[in-house]
Amino acid sequence: MTLTGLENSDLKLIIFGGKGGVGKTSCAVATALALSENFKTLLISTDPAHSVSDCLGQQIGYKIVKVDGASNLSAIEVVADEALSVFKETHQSELKKLLTTSTNLDNDDINEMLNLSIPGIDEIMSFKTIIDFIGEGLYDKYVVDTAPTGHALRLISSPKMLDAWIKVAAKMRWKYRYLITSFAGSYKQDEVDAFLLSLKKTVKRIEGLLQDKAKCNFIPVCIPETMAISETIRFLADLRAFNIEARQIVINHVNVSEDCSFCKRRKAGQLKYIEQINEIFSELNKIEIPDFAEEIQGLESLKKLRKFLFGNQLNTQTP
Ligand SMILES: Nc1ncnc2c1ncn2[C@@H]1O[C@H](COP(=O)(O)OP(=O)(O)OP(=O)(O)O)[C@@H](O)[C@H]1O
Ligand SMILES: [Mg+2]
Repeated sequence: MTLTGLENSDLKLIIFGGKGGVGKTSCAVATALALSENFKTLLISTDPAHSVSDCLGQQIGYKIVKVDGASNLSAIEVVADEALSVFKETHQSELKKLLTTSTNLDNDDINEMLNLSIPGIDEIMSFKTIIDFIGEGLYDKYVVDTAPTGHALRLISSPKMLDAWIKVAAKMRWKYRYLITSFAGSYKQDEVDAFLLSLKKTVKRIEGLLQDKAKCNFIPVCIPETMAISETIRFLADLRAFNIEARQIVINHVNVSEDCSFCKRRKAGQLKYIEQINEIFSELNKIEIPDFAEEIQGLESLKKLRKFLFGNQLNTQTP
């Protein structure tokens, strides 16, 4: 089988996730390359390890750059820390005012509070950067490479965490509003209310996009090994808890060679895991990728991987 449905015009966001080292970056980059044959595509790395740069053999940074040798493909690194510091800088005054108007903290305490992280905010800011890109509509497809499982889950659970924070902040504001109304007779919404409202809208937009099966596809990458299978089971269950359904799965590093007795043993050893994967993930479209003799680095080897992911042409069928 090959990856299907990624060409559908409604589908904007494709996110690869999975255990460490299973081939997420390779698959994300090869997918972005394949899609860029027909679509203007932006490859987004949310992994602080800069592995997209290594995989492409080209430096990718915090600004969008064109990928050499692929005319319709651009790439960018969106790293949570960076996105968060931009957010703090932009909203410093609203955050400060939220604390001065709703708490008895003095200036030093407030500055200390501002240095603490709001739960989920760094991840949500990287996601906000992504949906802002989608909102700008400059690209047809956005392919996201994530860091190992825990990170992808943090990314996905960030809207819920931030939502809980907004609720507490709104409650604090409600008390402040009550006081003002009691003294002044009325209350006029200020920039802090507007700020909380826009955060809430961001959370909703992100949740809406992640849960929209027509717009967003989550593709787990797994390998035929016990630990990777267990982690994928947990990962998909966690996704389901956020109302996110995966429809296809990449099974990477499948041994196909029988050229030597070692290769034969490796292949035989993987068989039971492949069977397990077929059974456990029976409802998913499965794409098997062989274990290549060489690492996947640079356009030529990525094109080889692309062939296994998509065949000779992209498949528009929805899985
Ligand atoms: N099918 C394959 N055959 C041979 N080498 C592969 C294959 N898939 C991936 N690799 C190699 O395995 C290594 C890990 O792959 P990759 O970086 O894509 O994994 P990852 O899941 O993104 O890792 P991380 O969790 O560290 O981000 C890379 O050196 C890559 O070139
Ligand atoms: Mg990676």
